[in-house]
Amino acid sequence: MSNVTVFDDLLQEVREFPPDPAFTAQATAADPAIYRRAADDYERFWEDHARELVWFQPWARVLDWKPPHAQWFVGGKINAAYNCLDKHLGTPRRNKAAFIWEGENGEIRTVTYLQLHRDVCRFANVLRSLGVTKGDRVAIYMPMMIEAAVAMLACARIGAIHSVVFGGFSPDSLADRINDSACKVLITADGGWRRGNVLALKNEADKALEQTPSVRHVVIVKRPHGEPFPLNVKEGRDHWYHRLIEQASADCPAEPMDAEDVLYILYTSGTTGKPKGIVHTTGGYLVNTYATSKYVFDLKDDDIYWCTADIGWVTGHSYVVYGPLQCGATVFIYEGAPNHPGQDRFWEMVARHRVSVFYTAPTAIRAFMKWGRQLPAKHDLSSLRLLGTVGEPINPEAWMWYHENIGRGRCPIVDTWWQTETGAIMITGLPGLSTMKPGYAGTPFPGIEATVLDEAGNEVKTGSGLLAIKKPWPAMLRTIWGDDERYVATYFSKWDKKTYFPGDGAKRDEKGNFMILGRVDDVLNVAGHRIGTMEVESALVDHEAVAEAAVVGRNHDLKGQAIVAFVTVKGRFSMSDDLRKELSRHVVKKIGAIARPEEIIFSSDLPKTRSGKIMRRLLRDIADGRALGDTTTLADPAVVEQLRETYEEKYGG
Ligand code: WTA
Repeated sequence: MSNVTVFDDLLQEVREFPPDPAFTAQATAADPAIYRRAADDYERFWEDHARELVWFQPWARVLDWKPPHAQWFVGGKINAAYNCLDKHLGTPRRNKAAFIWEGENGEIRTVTYLQLHRDVCRFANVLRSLGVTKGDRVAIYMPMMIEAAVAMLACARIGAIHSVVFGGFSPDSLADRINDSACKVLITADGGWRRGNVLALKNEADKALEQTPSVRHVVIVKRPHGEPFPLNVKEGRDHWYHRLIEQASADCPAEPMDAEDVLYILYTSGTTGKPKGIVHTTGGYLVNTYATSKYVFDLKDDDIYWCTADIGWVTGHSYVVYGPLQCGATVFIYEGAPNHPGQDRFWEMVARHRVSVFYTAPTAIRAFMKWGRQLPAKHDLSSLRLLGTVGEPINPEAWMWYHENIGRGRCPIVDTWWQTETGAIMITGLPGLSTMKPGYAGTPFPGIEATVLDEAGNEVKTGSGLLAIKKPWPAMLRTIWGDDERYVATYFSKWDKKTYFPGDGAKRDEKGNFMILGRVDDVLNVAGHRIGTMEVESALVDHEAVAEAAVVGRNHDLKGQAIVAFVTVKGRFSMSDDLRKELSRHVVKKIGAIARPEEIIFSSDLPKTRSGKIMRRLLRDIADGRALGDTTTLADPAVVEQLRETYEEKYGG
């Protein structure tokens, strides 16, 4: 576990923050008995929350657990779009804002629940007219705009399975994901704004579409008031969203879905070169995202809630769309970059829209720290009442900065640990109940049984080990699309078939708070984005000059981890700066800008064990400039010394 950050030394000086009685007095979760009730009978706990949703037919059994496969609310019929939209139409929420969107160029659009419902119904009919039926896969490759949520909910309404691909992924990555689940339709946009430039998303998608035989139709959303730019519209295949929707009927009854019907697939990086299509089903996912949104974000009718995650990640699925809309919240979404036109853009928007609940990633917080406290200080942040973080460990220094400069010492912070696979928040404090300890994510959410185990499966009461989940939970992934064996092997084979292995290291204090120590597998967490080292290695060896590549993470002040690639080149190529740049571009082309290596280090050889396995641990030590670990199993110890020398010469170690 050498790629793990431990904050022990810092934590000794760190304060703890007991819940504020004023917050508790108004909190949705204000009675600590919630933990005991859930622990006594976790099926009952989830069932109680399921009753707060609208079902077309009640479930026959809460849980069928045939390890490692779980089914929740078996026999129940439900629809996700119905619970996000129709449920509110008979209430005063009908005319409240569901989404407030701000474009990077300053445009603002608001849709009410009633308007969103109408758009979703019309677009659902559009999808039907394009031949999409229940169970079909639909790819969504869009910038942050209201129509991305419309597209997801329209799929859900008719029982189509959406597969959202982050707009920053390359055409090759998009094509791989479309092909893996044979999507019939692609929904994209002409473009979006990012840092003052137009990202021509449809033009990117066109490159993917050359390799995706399953796609019959493409729907292009026109970004409102976007600058016109050259766009290829292929007759018969490509259609403008605004034209189709104009003609569509707004009458579209929600399809009663089986609780276990698939709601969506979302691809995430694993330890092989091929991303995994994580499969989420409908009933349990809705119950779990609803309950966590309600208690963790304490959502009230007058809140303006802003989760800064892009719709392309699981956080955008569970806590921009499905969770908060089920709660009837007003969700703020922003199209662009946090530093455009100024580095105080976020705080300007918090003040403008009176945002009250704000949820972001530690990487963003560390960037704000670097930009300086004078920027948030210029703005009126008095509307904020609750803050959250997600995606990576937060160092206590960043936590304290967030608490003081954004929360102004008044707002509880929920540090939420969860994953694409878990579908919903698993470990977190509850804002009205928990004592917050910077650097610790807190305790398992009610109904979740998390623990720390050693390699052999023995419980580690206090101290470091591997994070494990001992009981199924409603939003858990059901399988990997098309590869159930990989599901079993990845998540339920570390110890026994009943124990979920998330791939993170963790440490527990004497009060049962969990500190998440980061990935223990070959997955990096760069700026809160999961990137498989194998994925980057595959992209590198795909280039004709590369003989071999090994990718490791280096600790990084801002991004948590940065990508360092060790590369050996084929004899006829020279190890030049030009080649370094070209390899970097090649990785971006294959995967996307999020995978751009921070350093590429040429080497005449890579350190291997006698059995030929690359010793990543040593490479990590080199990349981080640490003393070398055990080198006794190395086939050729000279390789490491050589590498280290080259590295230190070049980068100062
Ligand atoms: C990491 C994002 C520490 C962890 C929702 C996990 C965290 C991976 C936290 C999942 C947190 C997420 N503290 N680490 N609060 N939240 N992680 O699938 O390593 O994009 O396994 O889901 O992010 O990333 P994913």
